Amino acid sequence: MNIAVIGTGYVGLVTGTCFAETGNDVTCVDIDKNKVKKLSSGQITIYEPGLEKIFVRNEKEGRLHFTTSLKNGIKDAKVIFLALPTPPDEDGSADLKYILGVAKDLGTLITKDEYKIIIDKSTVPVGTSEKVHTAILKSAINSQGIDISESFDIVSNPEFLREGVAVDDFMKPDRVVIGTSSERAKKILGELYAPFVRQGNPIIYMDEKSAELTKYAANSFLATKISFMNEIAQLCEKVGADVDMVRKGIGSDERIGRRFLFPGIGYGGSCFPKDVKALEKSSREIDYDFKILKAVMHVNEKQKLHLVKKIKSYFKNDLKGKKIALWGLAFKPNTDDIREASALTMIEELTKAGAKISAFDPEAMANVKKEIGNIIEYTETQYDALNNADALVIATEWSEFRTPDFNKMGALLKDKVIFDGRNLFDLNQMEECGFHYESIGRRIITNNN
Ligand SMILES: NC(=O)c1ccc[n+]([C@@H]2O[C@H](COP(=O)([O-])OP(=O)(O)OC[C@H]3O[C@@H](n4cnc5c(N)ncnc54)[C@H](O)[C@@H]3O)[C@@H](O)[C@H]2O)c1
Repeated sequence: MNIAVIGTGYVGLVTGTCFAETGNDVTCVDIDKNKVKKLSSGQITIYEPGLEKIFVRNEKEGRLHFTTSLKNGIKDAKVIFLALPTPPDEDGSADLKYILGVAKDLGTLITKDEYKIIIDKSTVPVGTSEKVHTAILKSAINSQGIDISESFDIVSNPEFLREGVAVDDFMKPDRVVIGTSSERAKKILGELYAPFVRQGNPIIYMDEKSAELTKYAANSFLATKISFMNEIAQLCEKVGADVDMVRKGIGSDERIGRRFLFPGIGYGGSCFPKDVKALEKSSREIDYDFKILKAVMHVNEKQKLHLVKKIKSYFKNDLKGKKIALWGLAFKPNTDDIREASALTMIEELTKAGAKISAFDPEAMANVKKEIGNIIEYTETQYDALNNADALVIATEWSEFRTPDFNKMGALLKDKVIFDGRNLFDLNQMEECGFHYESIGRRIITNNN
């Protein structure tokens, strides 16, 4: 099938590459000239495990193309995926300017004697399909003077991939949600997605509005789980319980499940913060007070600063001249994405308080440098960051941080002090190694310094 993907970021590039992998001819469109140039010359633009290999193969085999021209990109495409940004507006609602802008452009390009399916993969509020439909129709009338209502259908097909495991998630999704009232579109998309659901995971067909809401409901529910566990962790710290034990105790209940019960330093990334905000805002717009979501956001904001509070308290509110080593900058492991990463919030607070930071992240340092420049030091290895530092702070649970050389760490650090926002280490081990160790929702290990 000929496919166009408009927007070649995390979702668009994975989507385009994975559809090429199942034999489709895919053209990815992006307005970012540098990105298109890089991709066209065989260079990948994001770090995502497993993506580069299939990207290179499909590009070499001529199934994957890149262009800045929407007109050329959609020329032969039967299906057009929109994988465009939907960032939060100032008031928290999803900004649809990218989606509706492209819809308008599509209206100038779609003709009467063809059939195309426009598929929204971006995360968008309920009712967006209708808006896209209207925008395309209106623009066709204004620009071409024709009614193209028979020439296209709109589908809402939210994407559930997780950065870090995006290729696996796309190739073997738990489910595919297809929201459309068009039987013709249903059939074509069923065929397109068939190779991805061979193991029996469902394609769930529904109306457009339910599909749009499904995505927000999924992300908001997961964010709620995180904030809930972060509150349980706070309680644990106050009453002397161990959140790891509580997590295991509740996770073994099938109704609760083991996943997504890890406390930490708050959720970040390009999706949870903006999607929870957008669902709360769109609920308010229709006079519904979504109380749980307000609490979820409030808890998360506080949690992002929880470790900073511990650090300040340990250093008796005097961080001037202190050197803090920071392991992890990405909002989660296996990605170079730093959007709304808790590490950035901590950097801001710690540097404001006068601390100097030396940081290491396996993939995200270039992106952080682009955003905040050299206000922190970036090191070659995780151990270099520790050199003469007053404490180590862990912000991202990259696997290489899980079993480090504690003797080496102790020797490099000025003081054997660790603040662990991801509960990576065993408390007994920390005690044996003589570290002062503070984590989330567990007892403090003190080396009586
Ligand atoms: N990143 C994720 O993990 C994830 C997962 C599921 C859903 N989503 C949703 O998918 C959507 C895209 O997210 P993303 O993370 O891929 O965003 P992104 O910012 O990584 O990529 C968006 C791309 O669109 C391009 N673009 C902007 N305007 C354009 C235009 N007019 N024409 C062509 N290209 C244009 C940008 O240059 C950029 O490359 C968002 O709605 C997001 O909420 C993201």
